[in-house]
Amino acid sequence: MNNYIVTFKPENRRISVCEGTTLKEAITAEGLDFDFPCGGMGTCGKCRIKILDKNLNATEKELKFLEGKELSEGIHLACETKVYSDITVQLNEKKNEVYNILQSSTEKLLLLNLLLKKFT
Ligand code: FES
Repeated sequence: MNNYIVTFKPENRRISVCEGTTLKEAITAEGLDFDFPCGGMGTCGKCRIKILDKNLNATEKELKFLEGKELSEGIHLACETKVYSDITVQLNEKKNEVYNILQSSTEKLLLLNLLLKKFT
């Protein structure tokens, strides 16, 4: 089985992975700060990344979440994209960032609700 280099932009972090490894696995192995809200099941569509140097076909799950324009721009889901050659990936920080803000706000609201219930 071959190994390939995945380069993550904008930090230029590089990792060598086995053929068929998903980008989710590569991101996790590299310890990059990126969220996978559904745990990588391909059911939330939130783990958008951009492939900078390849044109990859979309999987069935990706077609449920990604529009034609996104696909033509190289947007894919990290948990659905497997590595079969050296590849350069732009982590889509803005969308993930928005998710992180929402997630953080939701967690704070839940905590606040719990505290309010405890003291009322
Ligand atoms: S983590 Fe949910 S679709 Fe990839």
